[in-house]
Amino acid sequence: MEALEQKILDEGTVLSGNILKVGSFLNQQLDVGFLLKMGEEIGRIYKGDEITKILTIEASGIAVAVAAAAVMGNKVVFAKKNKTSNVSGEVYSAKVHSFTHGTDYLITVPKEYIKKSDKVLIIDDFLANGNALIGLIDIINQAGAEVVGCTCAIEKGFQGGGDKLRKKGYRIESLAVIEKMSAEGIEFRR
Ligand code: G4P
Repeated sequence: MEALEQKILDEGTVLSGNILKVGSFLNQQLDVGFLLKMGEEIGRIYKGDEITKILTIEASGIAVAVAAAAVMGNKVVFAKKNKTSNVSGEVYSAKVHSFTHGTDYLITVPKEYIKKSDKVLIIDDFLANGNALIGLIDIINQAGAEVVGCTCAIEKGFQGGGDKLRKKGYRIESLAVIEKMSAEGIEFRR
């Protein structure tokens, strides 16, 4: 999505540790007009696909998912992140390792919100190593539902998570894929 690439170039800052700061529109302050444009783009990507539910993960994924849902008309379910491994039988859960934070956490979704008949689109803000997506896919599989595709606003292609999932056969359609980044500049995948 060209407008997102331009937004990243205009407002993003590359921090040490391969972190792209985009707090001005995605991770802290929300540029809702722009988010809705991203939602429209996601709607275009999946036009013609049957989707019954959008699944995301707190916190920043929710904004992108809601923008897409505003266009596509689906309900949004978000996985909660729990520090404790103490979960009830009423929820699906999966362990996720965060490379960025160097910690493990548990994600949970109440069983009542994903049914076997659901065709699910996964949406998140960032795709780095892909562990959050793997956890969400695990939860959809536990429910016996179908993963239609995964869309993240910004994929850091050089971390390999997206390509690993593509090789496994998942449809991964990120809105902007960064191939290289440093304090000197950002290059997108073509
Ligand atoms: P992975 O799921 O793809 O394996 O990524 P990882 O565990 O490394 O990412 C952990 C968190 O860091 C996620 O958010 C992810 O969205 C975010 N993240 C990863 N790379 C970047 C980056 O370059 N810039 C920014 N701004 N965020 C990045 P989180 O900690 O769960 O936070 P939030 O969703 O609650 O905001």
